[in-house]
Order: sequence, then C-alpha cells, then structure tokens
Amino acid sequence: MEMPKYVGSMRWKDFLNTQDYTQEELTQILDAADDLKKKFKNREPTPYLPGRTLFMIFYNRSLRTRNSFEAGVYQLGGHAHFLSPQDLYTPTLPEDMVPYATESIADVARVLSRMGDAIAIRIYGDAAKWTIGRGHRVMQEFAKWAEVPVLNMEDDLYHPFQAMADIMAAREAERNLQGKKFVVSYAYSGGLKPLAVPQSEVLVTTQFGMDVVLAHPKGFELEDNVIQAAKENADRYGGSFEVSYDMKEAFEGANFVYPKAWSPKQFMPPYNATVDKESATKHQDKYKSWLTDMGMIDVTDKAYYMHCGPADRGQEVTDEVIDKYKCSLYFEEAENRLHAQKAVMAMFMP
Ligand code: CP
Repeated sequence: MEMPKYVGSMRWKDFLNTQDYTQEELTQILDAADDLKKKFKNREPTPYLPGRTLFMIFYNRSLRTRNSFEAGVYQLGGHAHFLSPQDLYTPTLPEDMVPYATESIADVARVLSRMGDAIAIRIYGDAAKWTIGRGHRVMQEFAKWAEVPVLNMEDDLYHPFQAMADIMAAREAERNLQGKKFVVSYAYSGGLKPLAVPQSEVLVTTQFGMDVVLAHPKGFELEDNVIQAAKENADRYGGSFEVSYDMKEAFEGANFVYPKAWSPKQFMPPYNATVDKESATKHQDKYKSWLTDMGMIDVTDKAYYMHCGPADRGQEVTDEVIDKYKCSLYFEEAENRLHAQKAVMAMFMP
C-alpha cells in the first residue's frame, strides 16, 4: 500500500506548542488532517502506524483528548496505553526528588521510549500544584529525556492540539483566514481553569494572519511572553493583535468568537506566595456578565461561535448559542481533535 507523502515527514519531533512551528509547517499538518478526515468519512483504511504504541499519561480527566488520541492511533493501525499517575511510580521533577522519590521523569521517559513510539501527557491544575508553568516544565522534562516524540495533550500553558483542531474548523468555515477578526475572550466560570486554551488560541490565530483581539477584565492577563509572541506573529504573518477590556466592544464585527474561562494568575505562584483558590474564585465571581448569549452574537458579523469544550453552560455560554445557533462550531472542533491528532501522529511517529 502506498503511503501518503506526509507519513513520517516530521519524524522524531515533539509537539508541545504550535509556536515551535512555522505557518507553513502547521499548514502541512492541517492538509494531512483534511486528507485523514476525508478518508475517515469514506471509511477508507489508513494503516499508517502499524504496530506503533502511544503511551498516554493523564494527570487530569478528559473526554475529547483521551478518546480522540485513543481512537486515532487505533484508526492508524497502532495502539494506545492509558496511564494514570497512580499506575506509575509518580514521575517527579528533578527539584522534587529530594529527600526521596522513587522515579524521576528522566527515568520514566527513557523506559517508555524503549517500549513504544510516542509519549503523550496531560498535566495542569491540581496536578501541577496550580503553580503557573509547572505543568509545562513537566512536559519539557519529558521531552528532554524521551527518545521518542512527546505530545502535549494540555499543560498549564498550552493546548496545541486544541489549537490545531480549532484552526482546522475555522479554515473549514472560512477558507481564507487572513484578515478575519478572531476574538479570544474571557468567559465567566465558577471553576478554576488554566491559561492553556486562550494562550494557544492567540498564538495559532496570529500565526495564520488573523486580526486577533484578546478581551478580558483587568486582572486576567495572559503570560507576557505569549503576548509578545502574538504581537511578533501578527507582524510576521500580516495580521494584527490587540487587547480589549470590554467584551461587547471586542465582539463588534467579529468573524469568530472564542469565549472561554481562565483563572486570574495573580492568586497563584509564582505571582502569589501560596495557591489562593478562594480569592481567585471570588475575583472571578465579579465577572458573571461575561457570558455569550444570542444578544452578544448579534453584535458580531454573524460570527462563528467556538469553544474547546467542555463549555460551562449557563456560565460561559447559553445552550441556545451552542445547540441552536447555525454558526456554532462546538462539535466540529471536538471532531477535528481526532483528525488533527491523527495527522501529527502519522507525521511524527513512524
Ligand atoms: N478540549 C479538551 O481538551 O477536552 P477534554 O478535557 O474533554 O479532553
């Protein structure tokens, strides 16, 4: 059987952040994802990873990510192992090995590398001690030691596969993304949420030359390096990037809106001495009006509604917007997780 040219074309690379790749490379992944989606719909076999094994370490729960990776590698002819941290001797960062710990991340990464073909990890929130950047450091430590690709299934800073599925859905909705207005907005939730999704969204949309507006109340700032990178992407790829503190103003004339909750980092280390969840949720509770309903959609230019899922219905968004609004991409984005991840696995894992 003849393999498509993209199979094995990015062998032995990690996928930790879309920012590690150029627009051209990300487009190659999206083109492969389009091909795999078409074949999936036609029930055409795609046995591009025969006998390959993906190890999936989940420190957090998941619906979309686990099932799309597990189904995806199977559909490519391979196999996925699901590993929760309690099934391992907890993989530990170097600074936490003293005075005693059984197994370092360096050990776990090297052992799994001898047995399989990629290691995928999800770690944020409590699992990363709500210390901003700690989850990403775990990811980088795995990548440092693994002899096979490490795939970021969401850490506390980035959710690159979500970003790929989303830009794929946006590209399906509007073939030419250049110059389209894309709003990444804070949305209210009573729960604590990482920075990963909004950060990956502002990065990937500026990488595709869109006119990106990041909207949030003061006190919900993203990381400085991400803002800087988004500005540089806008310069490099011919789009624009600006920050607004007014949700309605930001939505005006938008082609895409992505209202999604995240938590104020000022209450978490290293920005605060301790993890102060109570103050963070109290602070969030001041912004219950940051909700997307049909009134907010009417302000836009018939914008596509986007959310990574799971959306907090009644807090972030109304049911009507997700379920009845004809420009809701909610389920397309979920489905595209499968196709975008299969593309990366087919390109990186042979
Ligand atoms: N969007 C996303 O990552 O969903 P899950 O938490 O269900 O995996």
